Amino acid sequence: MADLVKPSDEVVNNAYIKDYESLYRDSLEHPDGFWENIAKELFWYKPWDKVLVGKHPYYDWFAGGHTNIVANAIDRWQKTDKKNQLALIWEGQDGKVKQYTYQQLNEEVSRAANALKSLGVKKGDHVSIYMPRIPEQTISMLACAKIGAVHSVVYSGFSVQALKSRIEDAECKIAITADGYHFRDKLVETKKTVDDAVKDLSFVKTVVVVKRTGNPVAFTEGRDIWWEDLVSKQDSICSTEMMDSNDPLFILYTSGSTGKPKGVLHAHGGYMVGTYATSKYVFNLQSDDVYWCAADPGWITGHSYIVYAPFINGVTNLIYEGPPDYPDAGKWWSLIEKYKVSKFYTAPTVVRALMKYGDEIPQKYDLSSLKILGSVGEPINPEAWEWYYKIVGKEKCPIMDTWWQTETGMHIITPIPSLPLKPGSACKPFFGIKADVVDEKGNSVPVNTQGYLVLKKPWPAMLKDVYKDPKKYTDLYWGKIPGTYFTGDFAKKDADGYFWILGRNDDVLKVSGYRFGSAELESAFVEHPSVAEAAVIGKPHEVKGESIKAFVILKVGKQPTDELKTELKQLVRKLIGPIATPDEIEFVTALPKTRSGKIMRRVLKAKELGQPLGDTSTLED
Ligand code: WTA
Repeated sequence: MADLVKPSDEVVNNAYIKDYESLYRDSLEHPDGFWENIAKELFWYKPWDKVLVGKHPYYDWFAGGHTNIVANAIDRWQKTDKKNQLALIWEGQDGKVKQYTYQQLNEEVSRAANALKSLGVKKGDHVSIYMPRIPEQTISMLACAKIGAVHSVVYSGFSVQALKSRIEDAECKIAITADGYHFRDKLVETKKTVDDAVKDLSFVKTVVVVKRTGNPVAFTEGRDIWWEDLVSKQDSICSTEMMDSNDPLFILYTSGSTGKPKGVLHAHGGYMVGTYATSKYVFNLQSDDVYWCAADPGWITGHSYIVYAPFINGVTNLIYEGPPDYPDAGKWWSLIEKYKVSKFYTAPTVVRALMKYGDEIPQKYDLSSLKILGSVGEPINPEAWEWYYKIVGKEKCPIMDTWWQTETGMHIITPIPSLPLKPGSACKPFFGIKADVVDEKGNSVPVNTQGYLVLKKPWPAMLKDVYKDPKKYTDLYWGKIPGTYFTGDFAKKDADGYFWILGRNDDVLKVSGYRFGSAELESAFVEHPSVAEAAVIGKPHEVKGESIKAFVILKVGKQPTDELKTELKQLVRKLIGPIATPDEIEFVTALPKTRSGKIMRRVLKAKELGQPLGDTSTLED
């Protein structure tokens, strides 16, 4: 394949932005003007006084402005013909289909919002959402935002401990869940997980339960209530709360290199403008698009690019409940054919997994509706890129390899459709974004040299803070190289200014696109009575991107058996979730440590991969 993959004339002609370079230059010279013009396309109860104010590293975007992200995602369409357009098409793994026009979505969200109000939820209150990929998950999130409540969504692949610590940290008085769901042919009992998670958390007053499977669940009198009983009797009209642009919208927990997951806090105004602009320009969104982002709303990709941005752009949004290869490896391709999906957004791990089944499977389906393909969550290797481009997109659909994070809220390094692509490169900074690759001191490194990826200017959808832990916000993100935002990724920039993301430079793992911290996994291992210490690293994996390998030191007298390995795997599944299941466990008698006692995972990893050990001067032994 050619080094540079040029877009067709048709793609360029249809693109909102035909010339990346000139607009990019302009946007850096006048960032406020660039963002202001985009914000003007949206509805504000009261316009902002200033686009950006703040005292580094705390920034207020659209300061003084009043809006609500739901006023733009749903309300503003009600006065137009769009109210009759399909907003959401949902299909369950069992083939059940539900469809909502923008008007019906408004009514459902309003009922759910009134239901929350009837439970005493007010502006600023925190609501935990732990649900499978069903319409009520999206509706609950929108309902919270509508009344100014702050949602804290926990992905349904997490287990008790992970859920409990998140509900506890965010002090959620209400939890919304479902009686369960089927993942492939296995019943996942979400309600039971919630019961276990909240049993010692007396501040949780109400658990709302959606009936998804109809399997019997335990009900706690006075605390639990069926969604169906609560929501159906509510009025379908509910006024949207006017929010300050910088009022909180949600907390989303994500793993870092140290300790417990951090509560990343996002606000209404800047997040709304940033996700709207990026989705519009990167996916070239049009009113008649059938857009399918196949992530889960429980992750940032789902928050930004399923629950909010597509509706703000007024497209028809598809959500499918099941995995890509169940009941067969053609499932997702069949959905693209069935619903005539035009914009499709998934993760490299999915592309690699489906690629393994061969070209014939996607070739059986009519994928001609596709116009743009997206990739997110981890680096996409050139082989997977090429397969996605040729076999899925038939060399007609540009691939948007979008680099961003829970913290950035929106795409940061990304192609746009009119930009020539380089397979495996996330291409260039989005408009208004000043990105660089630097050394420890913050100096730009020469071209094609690995360094730290940093951002040198604030951007609208940036995190506002780490919930209850501002020190983490200032130190971890803004303190490593003063004045710049430290992403935690390695990258290099080539002579054409294209960025190549080279993976994390901290102890964060990306397993099938899921983000974990080594420390978080290690603490699950040491919960076992036989384990004295554990160290976790990520190892390159053909499909998952990275797999989890643990080195475990047992307590004196404990035997390193295969049964114990199985038990440990089960323990991690139980505490964190099936998505965190370790691939490999090795029993060892010592771990490489610094003189101050910190495990040197970098050394473990280098040794495991047969690479040079690097600087070992701080190694204790
Ligand atoms: C990685 C996901 C390479 C990166 C939206 C980042 C990527 C972390 C890409 C954030 C990409 C995300 N190419 N790496 N296109 N997109 N990453 O918070 O390491 O779950 O720091 O957000 O995923 O993961 P998070």
